Amino acid sequence: MSYETIAVQISDRVATITVNRPDKLNALNDRVIAELGEAIDNVVGDNSVGGVILTGAGRAFVAGADISELEKHGAVSAKQLAQTGQDVFRRFEYSPKPVIAAVNGFALGGGCELAMACHIRLASEFAKFGQPEVKLGLIPGYGGTQRLPRLVGRGRALQLLLTGEMIDANEAYRIGLVNRVVPSTELLPAANEMVRAILANAPVAVANLIEVVNCGYGATLEDALTLEATAFGLLAATDDKREGTRAFLEKRVARFTGA
Ligand code: COA
Repeated sequence: MSYETIAVQISDRVATITVNRPDKLNALNDRVIAELGEAIDNVVGDNSVGGVILTGAGRAFVAGADISELEKHGAVSAKQLAQTGQDVFRRFEYSPKPVIAAVNGFALGGGCELAMACHIRLASEFAKFGQPEVKLGLIPGYGGTQRLPRLVGRGRALQLLLTGEMIDANEAYRIGLVNRVVPSTELLPAANEMVRAILANAPVAVANLIEVVNCGYGATLEDALTLEATAFGLLAATDDKREGTRAFLEKRVARFTGA
């Protein structure tokens, strides 16, 4: 698939995926959702890529699902629409390579949901967050009712979901929705710096961390701890663990191979 609504640029092991419909504030229509799914599958399968930055062109990250398309859906097709988007967002969440959302502007509705499906969220001082679906007679359909309470707690999530209010980047940081707020000119450099800090670590350990945190989150503590111990055991058999521990003892920088 050649991309029409997103741009993908790969530079020195980092893929930057930019949602690129700035005239519609990067609203998620069917094409954007399909292209995002294609892009995340491609970068996950590309050995030259170690991590991903997701951002938006212009003054929005993503201002939600495309309301002009939403208007046409009935009960059956809207459920399918939600499930298709959920599936794509899940592929970002379960990417074994770190995905950082660089939230440059409006992250509303599906945009907030997309950012929440990423592993880490950095926000520019101009970013705005919200789940305004209730104002349209809807609820979030791309995971917002579930990921928002998990990130910020049920009371704060219900406030945002029920009022549909928009909050600024500092408030998003205060409630734990974003990891860090930076000046807009420093957003992409800060995201790059963070992804590169992760890429300096052992890739199999990074992939296992993402899997264990994601899979353990909804499990019982007992099952999640077993999952953690099993992954810990498997990692102990990797070349990277041998290299990492040896490098520490020999007081040198580790050279990880991902094996
Ligand atoms: N779906 C489709 N089009 C959208 C959109 C969306 N979610 N959000 C913005 N746009 C379009 C606008 O229709 C407008 O298009 P036009 O120039 O062809 O008329 C363009 O993007 C610019 O938006 P505009 O509303 O003029 O900008 P603004 O600065 O006045 O307001 C927002 C910005 C984000 C507050 C406002 O666009 C908005 O409320 N968007 C919808 C947010 C939403 O409800 N998202 C959840 C959807 S489930």
